[in-house]
Amino acid sequence: MDKLIEYDAQNQIFHLHNHDVSYLLSVEEGNVLAHLYFGAAVRHYHGQLRYPRADRGFSGNLPGSLDRTYSLDTLPREISCAGELDYHEPAVIVRQANGSNSLALRYQDYQIIDGKPQLPGLPAAFVEDDTEAQTLIIKMQDQLTGVAAELWYTVYRDQPIITRTCRLINQGSAKVNLEKLASMQLDFTGHANLESITLPGAYADERQMERRPLQHGVTEFRSRRGTSSHQMNPFIALVEPTTNEQRGDAYGMMLVYSGNHQISVEKDQNDQVRLLMGINDANFNWQLLPGQSFQAPEVVMTYSDEGLNGMSQNLHHLIQERIIRSKFKHQERPIVVNNWEATYFDFDESKLQPIVDEAQAMGIEMFVLDDGWFGHRDDDNSSLGDWQVYQKKFPHGLAHFADYVHAKGLKFGIWFEPEMISFDSQLYRAHPDWLMRVPDRQPSPSRNQYVLDLTRKDVRDNLVTQISAILQNNQIDYVKWDMNRSLSDIYSLELPADRQGEVYHRYVLGLYDLMERITQAFPDILFEGCSGGGGRFDAGIAYYMPQIWPSDNTDAIARLKIQYGTSLIYPISMTTAHVSVIPNQQTGRQTPFATRGAVAMSGVFGYELDLTKLTDDEKQQVKRQVAKYKAIRPLVQYGHFYRLKSPFEGNQAAWMFIDDKRSEAIVMTFNVLTNAANRLTRTVLVGLDPQKDYEELMTHQVYGGDELMKLGFYDPLVHQDFTAKLYHFKVRQ
Ligand code: GLA
Repeated sequence: MDKLIEYDAQNQIFHLHNHDVSYLLSVEEGNVLAHLYFGAAVRHYHGQLRYPRADRGFSGNLPGSLDRTYSLDTLPREISCAGELDYHEPAVIVRQANGSNSLALRYQDYQIIDGKPQLPGLPAAFVEDDTEAQTLIIKMQDQLTGVAAELWYTVYRDQPIITRTCRLINQGSAKVNLEKLASMQLDFTGHANLESITLPGAYADERQMERRPLQHGVTEFRSRRGTSSHQMNPFIALVEPTTNEQRGDAYGMMLVYSGNHQISVEKDQNDQVRLLMGINDANFNWQLLPGQSFQAPEVVMTYSDEGLNGMSQNLHHLIQERIIRSKFKHQERPIVVNNWEATYFDFDESKLQPIVDEAQAMGIEMFVLDDGWFGHRDDDNSSLGDWQVYQKKFPHGLAHFADYVHAKGLKFGIWFEPEMISFDSQLYRAHPDWLMRVPDRQPSPSRNQYVLDLTRKDVRDNLVTQISAILQNNQIDYVKWDMNRSLSDIYSLELPADRQGEVYHRYVLGLYDLMERITQAFPDILFEGCSGGGGRFDAGIAYYMPQIWPSDNTDAIARLKIQYGTSLIYPISMTTAHVSVIPNQQTGRQTPFATRGAVAMSGVFGYELDLTKLTDDEKQQVKRQVAKYKAIRPLVQYGHFYRLKSPFEGNQAAWMFIDDKRSEAIVMTFNVLTNAANRLTRTVLVGLDPQKDYEELMTHQVYGGDELMKLGFYDPLVHQDFTAKLYHFKVRQ
C-alpha cells in the first residue's frame, strides 16, 4: 500500500499527502511542533519552507535559550498554549492547581496507523476500510504538569481531505481544568491578503455568504447558543482576493459539531494568520482528574485550486460518502407534502385525509405530519415532552391515519421536538427538575418552551422510550427532528458546582447519544434534522440524519441565497426545499409557481401547502413538477453541483447539476427583478465535455460543450419579476 504519511527522521518532518493535497509539519529546536504547509500536493519536501530565523523586537525567545532569532511568537505552529511567549490567541488553556495557566506542550513521539479511529461519543468522518486513509498521532507533553495532548491528523487516499482533532490527557498527578481546547490550529505565512468567507445569518435567513479581507487583529465567528446556530455556521473558507467560484486557491474548514463553536482568525504584526477552530471557550470549563482525557470535535479541511466550486465539491463528497451513515445516503429521497404551512396546528385526521388524497393523485410520495399531533397541542404553548397521540385530532389512533396514508401508496412521516419541554405538560408535572435551570432563578422561556437537560441519562432514557413507542406502533417511514430555541439557563441539577462549565458540551454529547440510540434502533426510518429551519445545519447532525431542513423561509427568492450559501459546504442530497403558497407566509412576496418549483427542485423536493386549495391549473403544474423532478432527481440529488451566478452579487442566480459522465446536465437560472431596458445577460456553463455536443431537451437546440462553457447562452428577456428557467442538456450520441 502506498504511504500517505512519510516521516523524515533525520529532519523530523512529517508529510501527509495524496494526489491533491499535502500537509507538512516539523519538530523544531526545543521539541516545538511547527507548521510548514497546507495546500496543493507536492511530491517531496526539500526543506525550503523552514521558517527563517530572524531577530524581531518584542518577540522574545524560548525559555533557557539565548537564540534571539527563534521565537514562539513568530514561528507557525500546530498547537500553541496559554502562558508561552506567543502573543496570539492560544489553542489550549489549562488551569492548574497553583492558579497558573502556563503550559508548554512539546513533541514527544508519534505513531502512524492505517485507517482512521472514530471519536468516542462524537460524530466524525469515517473510513469503510483501513486502506482508505492513514492517521498520524503526534504526542505532546508538558514536562512540568504532565498534561499531554494527542494531535490526530488523517489524510484520505482518494479525497483532498485532511481531518484534525486533539485529545487532551491529564497524565499528571493533580486535577486540572481545561478552559479551552481548539480542535485545530492552522498558521499561514506568506498569505498577507487572505479573505474569509463565512455563513452568518438569522432565523429565516440562514447562511448568507459574507466575504471580507482579513484585517489586523482577531476576528471571531462563533455561536454561544448551545447549537451551531442560524447566526453563524461552523465553517470558514480562506481564499485569495482573486479566487472566484471557478478558479483560485480556496481552503475550506468545517467543524463536525452541533454546539457552541468558535472560529478565530488572527492577522498579526507580521501579516501571518492564525486560524483556530473548536468548541467555544465561553462558559466552558472541563475538569480533568489524573488519568482523564477530553476529546475535541473534528475539523475537516480541504484545499482546492479550482475556486469555491472545487472546495464545495470536495466537502460535498466527503459529507455524502464519509460523514452521512444513513442507509438512505444513496437512495432517491421521496417527494413530500408537509402539513405545517398548510394547516399549522389546526387539523385533525378528517382534514388531513383530503390532502393525502390529492397528494396521491399528483404523484407525491410521502405525507409528513408536522407539529401538533401529540399531547393536547393546539398551539405552541403546551405538550412538548408528552409524545402521546392527541386523541381529539386522531380519534381512531395514529396508526389508523398512518394506514390511510400507506393505503394510498404514500409513505408516512412525523414530527418530533425531543429536546424540549412545556410547563404545560405531564412530563413537567412529573419531573420539574428535568429542564435546564439555575437553582432559585426563573428560567427564560423562548417560544414558551424550555430545554430538557440532556446531560442526564434518565431524561434521555425517557425520550427513547416515548419516541420508540410511537415509531414502533405506527409504521413510520420518516422523522423530522426539530429544535426550536437556543439554550439558556445553562445548569444541570445533577452536576456538582465545579462541573457546571461542562454543561454546554455535555448537552451536545447527550444529544448525540440520543440521536445515536434512536437512529440506530430505527435504521429503516429516514431522519431529517431541523432547528426552526436551519439553526443546526451542520456536519455533526449529518452523521445521524442524512437531510436537514435549511430554513423556515420558503420564499423562492429568499431561498436563492439560503440554498446558495448552504451549498458552499453541504451536499444537495442534504438540503430539503418545498413549494409553498403566495403571498409567501414569511415574506409576503408573490412569486410565480414555476419559480417556486425550480428553487425547490434544486434540493430534496416537496410541497408545504394545502393541496386541496390549489386551482385546477396549479394542480396540473404540481403534476408536471412532480413528474419532472422524478426524471431529474438522481442528477439533482447525487450529481455534481456547480454554482454559476451568485445571488449575493447581483440580480440573478444560476447553478447546475451534472452527472459523473458529463452526459446530462440541469441548469437553473433565476432573474430577481425585471428591468425595462433590455440589458442582455449570459449564462456560461462549466464542467461539460468540451469535445461533445449537447442537446437542450425542451428546445432541441444543439450546442457544443465548449460553446456552452465559453460563449454560454443569452438569458431570456423577461418583463416580470422573480422568474426562473430550467434547461436540461443531454449529450448527443
Ligand atoms: C419549526 C420548523 C417548522 C415547523 C415548526 C413546527 O419552526 O422549522 O418547519 O416544523 O417548527 O412548530
